Amino acid sequence: MERTLIIFKPDAVQRGLMGRILTRFEEKGLKVVAARFRRLNEELLAKHYEAHKERPFYPGLVRFMSESPVLVLVLEGVDAIAVCRKMMGATFGRDAEPGTLRGDFGVSRSYNLIHGSDSPEAAEREVSLFFDADEIVEWQPAGHKWVYDAEDLG
Ligand code: RTP
Ligand code: MG
Repeated sequence: MERTLIIFKPDAVQRGLMGRILTRFEEKGLKVVAARFRRLNEELLAKHYEAHKERPFYPGLVRFMSESPVLVLVLEGVDAIAVCRKMMGATFGRDAEPGTLRGDFGVSRSYNLIHGSDSPEAAEREVSLFFDADEIVEWQPAGHKWVYDAEDLG
């Protein structure tokens, strides 16, 4: 099992898409193990988007991400990082395949609805940036024995 940090960005929240996007992850078999609805500040975003600090789009990205509240989640599942990235689709909605979240819900080159960690290292760093260890909740969804097979569950 793997954990990944997912953020429903300000556009997803403002457009009332939180429920529909979360449903897609739940239906796929991802489990929510932490959640927080909050506004992000510049200081936290500087850490989160450290890798993009020198990029020309960085100031606009921070403005967008801090403009309105977001829903921050930790999702858990087999290969959760790759599975979530695949479900999100290409970075910009107009390039993303239909059937992906960005492909189905967006067309913008700035507002792209969702963030997902892109590697195990990034996931570990991002999860600990947004949550303390004791805020991650271990639990077993009753239906998961019909979602994951014995090999998945180890
Ligand atoms: P994310 O980190 O949000 O999951 O998205 P990503 O991996 O698909 O894209 P990444 O390259 O990490 O870029 C992070 C976020 O920066 C904004 N961006 N704008 N205008 C531009 O050229 C540009 N490039 C990136 C997007 O909000 C992207 O999600
Ligand atoms: Mg990224």
